[in-house]
Amino acid sequence: MKILFIGSEATPFVKTGGLADVLGSLPKAMEKRGHEITLILPKNKAIKEKYQEKLILEHTTKVPIAKKKEFVGIESMRHEGMTIYFIDNEYYFGYRPNLYGDYDDGERYGYFSHAVIALIKHLNYDVDILHLHDWQTGLIPYIMKVSKEKRLRHIHTVFTIHNIAYQGIFDKQLMPYLSVPFSEEIEYDGMINFLKSGIVTADYVTTVSPAYAEEIQYAYFGYGMEGILKDRKDTLKGIMNGINYEDFNSKTDPLIHKNYHLHNYLKGKEANKQALLKMFHLENETLPVFGIVSRLTEQKGFTLLKGIIEPLLKAKKLQLIVLGSGDKDLQHYFESLRRAYPELVGLYFGYSEKIARNIYAGADFFLMPSRFEPCGLSQLIALKYGTLPVVRQTGGLKDSVEPYNKFTNSGTGLGFLNFSSEDLARTLDAALALFNNKRNFNQVRRRGMQEDFSWEASAKIYEELYQSLGGE
Ligand code: ADP
Ligand code: GLC
Repeated sequence: MKILFIGSEATPFVKTGGLADVLGSLPKAMEKRGHEITLILPKNKAIKEKYQEKLILEHTTKVPIAKKKEFVGIESMRHEGMTIYFIDNEYYFGYRPNLYGDYDDGERYGYFSHAVIALIKHLNYDVDILHLHDWQTGLIPYIMKVSKEKRLRHIHTVFTIHNIAYQGIFDKQLMPYLSVPFSEEIEYDGMINFLKSGIVTADYVTTVSPAYAEEIQYAYFGYGMEGILKDRKDTLKGIMNGINYEDFNSKTDPLIHKNYHLHNYLKGKEANKQALLKMFHLENETLPVFGIVSRLTEQKGFTLLKGIIEPLLKAKKLQLIVLGSGDKDLQHYFESLRRAYPELVGLYFGYSEKIARNIYAGADFFLMPSRFEPCGLSQLIALKYGTLPVVRQTGGLKDSVEPYNKFTNSGTGLGFLNFSSEDLARTLDAALALFNNKRNFNQVRRRGMQEDFSWEASAKIYEELYQSLGGE
């Protein structure tokens, strides 16, 4: 099949979160299954220089935005057997380092959507499946639907929700810039809603774990989309994300202190823990290290730590290492912990692949008490690196981490159900008890490292889905 993947970020070109990991690995997994794969991204300033340099201008055209015609540069490169297209427009993306959060996101992703349609025309409509990702691409199936161009309607569309909390909601004043007719398909609550447009007008909707596909049909998780999703539950499916184990491999990872695998993980973990402590100027090699690598947003649930981690630090029961950026309040909170317990808390606010990998390799536990979690890739990486995930059992966390049961000595991490500090506190106590029972602790680690969340199984499910829609 000829499959076009479309989204706003993908490794190794540019990454702010898990979406980039998925768009950097799922297309490759489909390519390995013998399909012809194309990936389309905006040529944002944040795209790594060394890839920008490789791009070749293939075609130029224009698309209508408001009353003007905006330039579209279609630049391309070959990468690992796939064609990667970058949509070039200096004004919308070229000089903008931010992928999201600019004042005109609605206009620029509206522009991107029209540019993608222009690219499909440039490909002479020779496409079987358009696989769209998140709100930034939500307008595309709507444009196709209202287009007079019949050939566009032969292309089947799959819209994947990676995070329903981000919907691309804009004032109706945006309408003239979108160059499409207004209709209830793109309107929600008096506003323009890109995500709704994707959900309502794509042929099929998926999300990134089976549990999240269920959850988003209820108000607590659905952020207003629950009714619409329930209505189309026959064409809604949760497909678990995988990760690329060629990249996330403790045996070969060039960024970690010492490589290790299942047969020598005890020594490997110990050496990496020492290196990690040193990196953060911490010294206690016997206390467990709880690591965090995360966007610091409400979604991730770290506010649950407030009031319950302090007594554990005070009693010198654990160390905490945090890598992340986001909410200033959360950063201040973690800073206050470091001020109070400088010998037990390590912080780095920012984005660093190297530090992230060293936390995955060197920590004993990995904290992810998410309020909601569509899939989560961090816990999958932690499992593979022999670091026990401590998770709230929601969404993909529920689907990927089996909570430790001390009576049956089973499980691959620690989990709790209710979004409450008390439950997290109990789970931290259980983690500390497990840490002191080295035999069981190591067994849980080994089980985690043996888990397989490679793309193989999920890529096959996507393939079957594409076929059922009429792809060859
Ligand atoms: P989300 O997409 O909601 O942020 P995921 O768990 O799906 O959560 O994916 C997050 C990805 O981003 C993981 O690969 C994680 O290692 C990475 N990541 C998050 N924050 C940072 C950071 N500050 N530095 C480096 N990598 C990070
Ligand atoms: C989103 C979600 C995360 C998921 C990622 C990739 O960012 O927050 O849970 O793993 O997308 O699908």
